[in-house]
Amino acid sequence: MAKLKVLTFPDPRLRKVAVPVKKFDKSLENITSDMLETMYAEGGIGLAATQVDIHERIIVMDLSEEQNDPKIFINPEYKILNDKSLLSFSEGCLSVPGVNEEITRPDSIYLSWQDIKGNFHEAEPSGLLTVCIQHEIDHLEGKLMVDYLSPLKRGRIRKKASK
Ligand code: NI
Repeated sequence: MAKLKVLTFPDPRLRKVAVPVKKFDKSLENITSDMLETMYAEGGIGLAATQVDIHERIIVMDLSEEQNDPKIFINPEYKILNDKSLLSFSEGCLSVPGVNEEITRPDSIYLSWQDIKGNFHEAEPSGLLTVCIQHEIDHLEGKLMVDYLSPLKRGRIRKKASK
């Protein structure tokens, strides 16, 4: 296992759109274990492959308090089930260090993904998982939490990051 370098805003590589995973092999296992190691070492609860400059649709996550419940989502996709049901949550991101901002997202979604072996799964999650998976899938699309903020706020964060 190896700890990977996390790209930070405004690195242009964070804007790349990730491609679907097609091979469920040893190399995918190595990537996910490196991503988990990196996420734990950095104190994050979720990490998308894009953030470590791997542009494939891979997300790792651990929402448990003890940080002992690693989850892996390959090729995750979601559909909004009710766009009137919203949840505001103070989000942070390893790629935007030192910033926590309230972001509002739909909290009623249908989620599908594959596991490390390529088996398909689906769920209708709620709460923190809903927020977190949308945040991480945004990364795979080249989108960042700062995109939800006003241009003024985003400009301030960019300025701070370049110092
Ligand atoms: Ni993030």
